[in-house]
Amino acid sequence: MDYLYESLLRPLLFRKGFPFYGDVEKAHDASYQALRLFAKMRPLTSLMQKWNLTAPTVPAQKPLELFGLKFPNRVGLAAGFDKQARIWQAAGALGFGHVEIGTVTRHSQGGNEKPRIFRFPEQEAAVNSMGFPNDGSEEIARRLALGPKKGTRVCPLGVNIGKSKLTLMENAVEDYLGTFRLVAPHADYVSVNISCPNIPNLRELHERSRLIELLGAIQSENRSLAEKTSTKPLPLLLKISPDLTFPQIDDVLSVLEETDFSGIIATNTTTTRPGMPADVPEKGGLSGAPLMRRAIDIVRYIVRATDGKLPVIGCGGICSGEAADRFMAEGAALIQIYTGMVYRGPLFGRDLARAYAWSQTEWPGKIW
Ligand SMILES: Cc1cc2nc3c(=O)[nH]c(=O)nc-3n(C[C@H](O)[C@H](O)[C@H](O)COP(=O)(O)O)c2cc1C
Repeated sequence: MDYLYESLLRPLLFRKGFPFYGDVEKAHDASYQALRLFAKMRPLTSLMQKWNLTAPTVPAQKPLELFGLKFPNRVGLAAGFDKQARIWQAAGALGFGHVEIGTVTRHSQGGNEKPRIFRFPEQEAAVNSMGFPNDGSEEIARRLALGPKKGTRVCPLGVNIGKSKLTLMENAVEDYLGTFRLVAPHADYVSVNISCPNIPNLRELHERSRLIELLGAIQSENRSLAEKTSTKPLPLLLKISPDLTFPQIDDVLSVLEETDFSGIIATNTTTTRPGMPADVPEKGGLSGAPLMRRAIDIVRYIVRATDGKLPVIGCGGICSGEAADRFMAEGAALIQIYTGMVYRGPLFGRDLARAYAWSQTEWPGKIW
């Protein structure tokens, strides 16, 4: 299937003269709409789910229990693809072991000016400056309520939350909390995004005192919601930037410990341009293969700094089975992909999970 995508469909999609040529966002929107339609075809998605996720013909998919959740495999769909929470129900059918929707913000917003996604097929990379376009947390929560309920899902659903663009930095905590209250009842885990380079000043939240204020407030809201509903508090994760220095990462790790966060997603896109041609846009975050080295360095650093006690979700530039194995070998508990799927096709997540299940790589981080 992915062979068909790479040899037939992708050359067509990326071809001069094709309706979407040069307008990457339109091509993305068209794929999203196609997947939206697919997500509604219940008999087909259930069949594919069985085949891609749970079929006995698939050898050990190496399911994993983490944060009290059951992951059917270790490969997830990263945030940013399903910004509007319309296709997450189909993630299992595509063979993903988890899916993260969003980034969701308190207020509905259109995002930054277009064009805001650029593709670099030769480097298997992309640069985006989307700026969290989404329908806002009220509408997204309503949409989530229509899908499969917690406990009945084939793979865990993460909700990635961020700050609304118009909200001033001094009101950031209340803005995140507003979104958290609305989406928490529907999420299996929540990830807090402070690492998008496309929202002015957002990355300042990595700074220790601001981070402790933000994560502390979200965790106490999480606990009080759980108490009110007699449920367990949700696992909370933080998604960090690859552009942090190691001392900055140390600060972040100490805050995660203090606020009892369950894990970390490393990493978001980078504002650096390693191995990219000179005409790459300056604005925006780079994703895809050129990001991999840095993301792996960060995963390795965190696993060592925490003695493997903090589950790390590795993300950044995973465009091949070898890349996935390298993240696993460094101790990532799970991995997530986005740009790799653009170049390898919609079943790339499934293929990675199968490749990993077959591979000889023994995962060293077995502490949790
Ligand atoms: C077009 C695009 C939009 C993205 N939007 C988001 C987002 O809204 N929230 C987020 O946390 N990450 C977002 N990301 C970052 C990805 O989730 C991921 O962290 C990053 O792209 C690195 O992984 P990759 O190299 O596999 O793409 C986006 C990435 C791309 C390419």
